[in-house]
Amino acid sequence: MPQLTAPDVRFHASFLDAVREFTEADPDASALIGEGTGPYARTWGEPEGFTAFVDMLCAETERPRRPDWVPMTNLWYVQGDIFLGRLSIRHRLSPFLLELGGHIGYAVRPSARRQGHATAMLREALPLCRQLGIERALVTCDSTNTASRKVIEANGGEFEDRRGVKLRYWIRTGN
Ligand SMILES: CC(C)(COP(=O)(O)OP(=O)(O)OC[C@H]1O[C@@H](n2cnc3c(N)ncnc32)[C@H](O)[C@@H]1OP(=O)(O)O)[C@@H](O)C(=O)NCCC(=O)NCCS
Repeated sequence: MPQLTAPDVRFHASFLDAVREFTEADPDASALIGEGTGPYARTWGEPEGFTAFVDMLCAETERPRRPDWVPMTNLWYVQGDIFLGRLSIRHRLSPFLLELGGHIGYAVRPSARRQGHATAMLREALPLCRQLGIERALVTCDSTNTASRKVIEANGGEFEDRRGVKLRYWIRTGN
């Protein structure tokens, strides 16, 4: 069964495969793998560079990579040693996140799409949000992103409004 787990160096080979897929699908793969990962991308092909990347991801609960970002929990969706996707839970909403970004961001590697993984990993993330004190999670998507809209709605997303290109939904994280 696939599961959400903390980033770990044991996924190195599969992560690099996934990056190749992301890059073929969209040259701006950093948007899918995570914004601001550029400096790490230069060295994550090597074990030391990948360790530094994983350490940075795990430390973001305390020290976000950018000074204007809020603390967040980064998780990978994996099956065995295979990296399937990523999901990040932002611990609180900054004005930007309240307007557009939301509490949760996610992406699934192209070869693993349309198998229900995004729907399942968002479902698995909701109790974790609850543990972080988030009673209602804001999740947003572009109005053209049909797949993400379906993922949000399948997880009980209640549509609030549209701001620019973003559709904004709230999901209750518990009863
Ligand atoms: C959006 C994304 C995470 C969906 O991942 P996924 O694992 O393929 O999603 P699921 O398999 O759970 O599919 C959810 C629904 O979307 C549908 N779907 C998936 N890809 C689709 C596509 N390209 N076009 C239309 N519908 C699509 C599925 O059929 C499914 O519909 P159903 O519930 O009616 O069966 C993935 O396409 C992705 O990583 N995209 C790039 C990053 C991104 O957009 N992240 C979200 C930012 S808000």
